[in-house]
Amino acid sequence: MSDQNRIPQHVAIIMDGNGRWAELRGKERYEGHAAGIEPVRASLRAAVRNGVKYLTLYAFSTENWGRPQKEVDSLMELFCQSVISETPELVRQGVRVRMIGERSRFSEKVRSYLARAEEQTADGKVLTLILALNYSSRSEITRAVRKIAARAAAGGICLRSARIDPAAIDERTVSEALDTAEYPDPDLIVRTSGECRLSNFLLWQASYAELYFPEVLWPDFTEAEFDRALAEYARRDRRFGLVK
Ligand code: IPE
Ligand code: IPE
Ligand code: MG
Repeated sequence: MSDQNRIPQHVAIIMDGNGRWAELRGKERYEGHAAGIEPVRASLRAAVRNGVKYLTLYAFSTENWGRPQKEVDSLMELFCQSVISETPELVRQGVRVRMIGERSRFSEKVRSYLARAEEQTADGKVLTLILALNYSSRSEITRAVRKIAARAAAGGICLRSARIDPAAIDERTVSEALDTAEYPDPDLIVRTSGECRLSNFLLWQASYAELYFPEVLWPDFTEAEFDRALAEYARRDRRFGLVK
């Protein structure tokens, strides 16, 4: 296999360990989240440099709403601030920002900031940055099932192309009803902080992803750590259920 083939097309990261990083330093949890911005920049630089085409970042799960209100509020503020501070550099790097997850639960302010980031970066061709915000796989799959069921139940008034025979529902139908319809499945999923679980992240899409769980806490993640993840990926033997 050529070196190029060993670079994952799509890397997804569960950015975990901000709270523990802050606690270790006697800081507030939100300070850990703020310290998690530089590793995002570093990961983007490393992804672009290595020719990765899609980078998905798990930034806020549907379960994370259950955290103390103060922490949730500080995360929302951080998303808005980051859009303002980071968008010019994203445009310069040719990064296109997209989102997965249900944005209806966000405030009008957060939604407008996110929409602005998507609009201003829409022409980016180098890399697609997919932010998973108010995202969980079960919620995504449930919404997809609803969409497909509505098409199956659609009566005569419905456009012909939208109607679907239940017998014709296949894996592609499901994939295309997910938030990730436009993107390839992740080749590599990285979760920092040593936790070895997916926490409701890309469960359908992760079917054949390589998983990597470095011990480093997210605020300490660097370009070198990203390169290490790619090196680990390059050593993996992906078989997809087949024999050589
Ligand atoms: C990940 O860091 C960031 C979010 C979930 C928003 P955590 O806040 O989960 O950090 P730990 O796991 O408590 O250390
Ligand atoms: C997963 O981390 C969500 C994000 C990184 C955004 P959590 O810290 O919320 O997950 P658990 O609670 O450890 O499973
Ligand atoms: Mg955590």
